[in-house]
Formats: sequence, C-alpha cells, structure tokens
Amino acid sequence: MDRALAAEARAVLAAARGWLREVHEEGVEATPEIDRTPAVASAPREPQPTADAPVEPVPLLPAAEPAQAGLEATTGEPGATPSLESVREALGECTRCRLSEARTQIVFGDGNPDADLLFVGEGPGAEEDRRGLPFVGRAGELLTSMIEKGLGISRSEVYICNIVKCRPPENRTPLADEAATCRSFLDGQIDAVRPRAIVALGKPATSLLLGRDVAITRIRGNWHEYRGIPLMPTLHPAYVLRQYSPENRRNVWNDLKAALARSRE
Ligand code: URA
Repeated sequence: MDRALAAEARAVLAAARGWLREVHEEGVEATPEIDRTPAVASAPREPQPTADAPVEPVPLLPAAEPAQAGLEATTGEPGATPSLESVREALGECTRCRLSEARTQIVFGDGNPDADLLFVGEGPGAEEDRRGLPFVGRAGELLTSMIEKGLGISRSEVYICNIVKCRPPENRTPLADEAATCRSFLDGQIDAVRPRAIVALGKPATSLLLGRDVAITRIRGNWHEYRGIPLMPTLHPAYVLRQYSPENRRNVWNDLKAALARSRE
C-alpha cells in the first residue's frame, strides 16, 4: 500500500474509533457478547496475546461481580480493612493482563487516603502514564479545575483513581477482562479510603461499578450505591471536553456539588 493510502486508512480508522467511543459513551447499548470472566488476582495467568495479536476491538462491559479472592489477597485476611499501601504492595509490578506490556509505569491513585470523596475514572492516558499520576492530562486539568474552582476544595483533599492502573494502548476503553483483572485493586482502594461518596466518571467506570451497561447521559445525576457507599455517576471530563456545551458543564457541576454535599453529611 502506498504511503498516502496508508495514512488515509489510519486517519479513517482513528476517526471511526473516536466515533465508536462517543456513541458508546452516549449510551448505545448494543454491544457484542459480554466477557464475564471473574477477576481473580491469584488465578493462573491466561496465555497473554503478543503485541501484534489482535485484541477485541470494541470495549465491553466488565464482569459484574467483584473479585473476592483478589481482594483478600490485598488485605491479607478475609474481611480485614486494607491500607492503600497494602493494596499497592499486592498490586506489585503487575503483569496480570496485557496492559502491562505497553505501560511506562503503573498509575495507582492520587490524593488523600482519608478522603470523604473518591473519584473513579477509566484508565491512564499518555500524560498519566508518563507521570505516574491519574488525571494530569487535558481531561485531568478539567477535572482538577472542576474540583478546585468549581467545588472550592483542593484536589489533594479527594482521592482519585481509575478502573485500570495501566494505560490502554491509544487510550482505548479498557476491555472487560482488563477491568475485571484490576477490579480487586480498585475495590481495595475504595475499602482503604472508605469515602462517604464516590463519583464515577463516565460510562465505563459507572458500568463497572453498577455491574450493568449504563447510558451515562441518562443515569448521571442520580444516586446509586457501591459497596454500601453512595455513588454519583457523571460525565467523564474527556467527554465534556469533546462536547463542551453549557448543558454538559452545568450537569457535571450539579453532580459534583451533590456528591460533595453528600460526602459532608
Ligand atoms: N486520565 C485518567 O487518569 N483517567 C481517565 O479516565 C482519563 C484521563
């Protein structure tokens, strides 16, 4: 294939990927078969695809059930409250899924270990992968400004993490098995911080935590619960950047205000 044609094909593919991601974010619910393989951190590793082996192209709804065995592995004993340090230690230099192959570093989480408000995003992007911190790229700048200028609190007062701790290639949405494999560590973080309210940022985080495929634009702004903690789904800041409308900004602003108020009750 000549170079111009190859470049054009790449551009068309990139545009198609962006479009797929947007319609998915907007709540299109027809997806291929769901992978419900439970995440068990201590289970023997599945054969991992090599760098050029095909991965499923469409992001899917993760498994509904938390990975209990993996969670126990992070706490030492069943039922014990983990510390963030013990969860991080259990995660180690993780190679449990294919995302470890291309990452620069693990992006575990950031913020106050005793936060009343905890944010769950999707997965690290390029800047996060480079710096080892969640939400420090463009979407992160918007999230930080919504927290600091919008809510009037310092970012360091809240805790921020993602459903997967390694950057998905080309910033694609994490696949079901990747999210399931990382699930026990996210649960461990939530158990360690014990926030009074959780904000789920975007469709993948909300779908994972609620255990079903959600339409984020419909579900946002309504209270749910995760592990006994009030959960507020809202739009992902990357989506707000793409669809920078007064309505989207107002909606997220209202959701965050509600979440902060709930965390202070
Ligand atoms: N950065 C993150 O850390 N998470 C996201 O979901 C997006 C950007």
